[in-house]
Amino acid sequence: MTANAASRLLQHYVDNFRRLPWRSPPGEPAPDPYRVWLSEVMLQQTTVATVRPRFERFVERWPTIHALAAAADEDVLSEWAGLGYYARARHLIACAREVERRGAFPTTAAELRRLPGIGAYTSAAIAAIAFGQTAPAVDTNVERVIVRLHGLKSPSRAEIERLVLAIMPADRPGDFVQAVMDLGATICRPTKPCCGDCPLRRDCAAFASGTPQVFPEPRRRAVRPHKYGVAHWIERGGRVWLVRRPAKGLLGGMAALPGGDWTASPPELLNAIGTVRHVFTHFSLDLLLVAGSEPAGEGWWHPLDQLGSAGLPTLYRRAAELALTARQAA
Ligand code: ADE
Repeated sequence: MTANAASRLLQHYVDNFRRLPWRSPPGEPAPDPYRVWLSEVMLQQTTVATVRPRFERFVERWPTIHALAAAADEDVLSEWAGLGYYARARHLIACAREVERRGAFPTTAAELRRLPGIGAYTSAAIAAIAFGQTAPAVDTNVERVIVRLHGLKSPSRAEIERLVLAIMPADRPGDFVQAVMDLGATICRPTKPCCGDCPLRRDCAAFASGTPQVFPEPRRRAVRPHKYGVAHWIERGGRVWLVRRPAKGLLGGMAALPGGDWTASPPELLNAIGTVRHVFTHFSLDLLLVAGSEPAGEGWWHPLDQLGSAGLPTLYRRAAELALTARQAA
């Protein structure tokens, strides 16, 4: 991309940027690093549309890193419920406490990357957006834009970072990376790109090829194994028995319905209330829900009319909805 193309992209961003609660408008002083960090962690595996209201609620509850560092783990995990990838929330707490201990966020990508839950992309995005550093933030949107622009087949991450760095204007790195992100999200979409609206089409090798949507080459996905689990619905006097999952591992530290390990073969069970099918990154799960009578081990009785605030992740929220629906139908 030429300097001219980069400035066309920036002008397009000025005219079309998405107003998001963690952003400063283009050309204005950088936003609060706390808000940039929080939004980038939330956006790691979750869409802007889902993140926006959850971000607003989160910063209303914990407006500063100081407030978040002092929060109880359970409260943060509950607030994260439904966003998925709960290791993010556990790292978020650890990172907040580490930044609180240091007194402030570090300002370079290399130092940011040493904090819990901050990888190559997130460290570069925070450094560029919050601290004005020329750091190459490459997420899937940015990767797609760069790959199409240069007509690459299957470039390495290092190559894409180098290409981003080569065109990043030193005076506006934050606006520039967000301009590329917005272009990838709204115009240079995975399928059906809107090349007619693109400020870079004159420079774009994929556009010139006539079939921009074939870039980049799709990655082969590993086959996702299937697992089975059982969850117990134990109800008494308008309350249901909930437990906390072990701190480590999938859904670590989250509120849950009690149940055994998840296995590769289906359990032999009659009289299930129903099944919830859920897809995780590395496997899919059939969770059979069965009525239980006696709680065992540690847990708590949670009022059925307050299940919305129980902090249940989506899998167990859906299982609870199934139990309540089955009850009404009975
Ligand atoms: N996706 C990841 N980071 C983003 C940001 N800062 N703005 C919009 N979309 C994003």
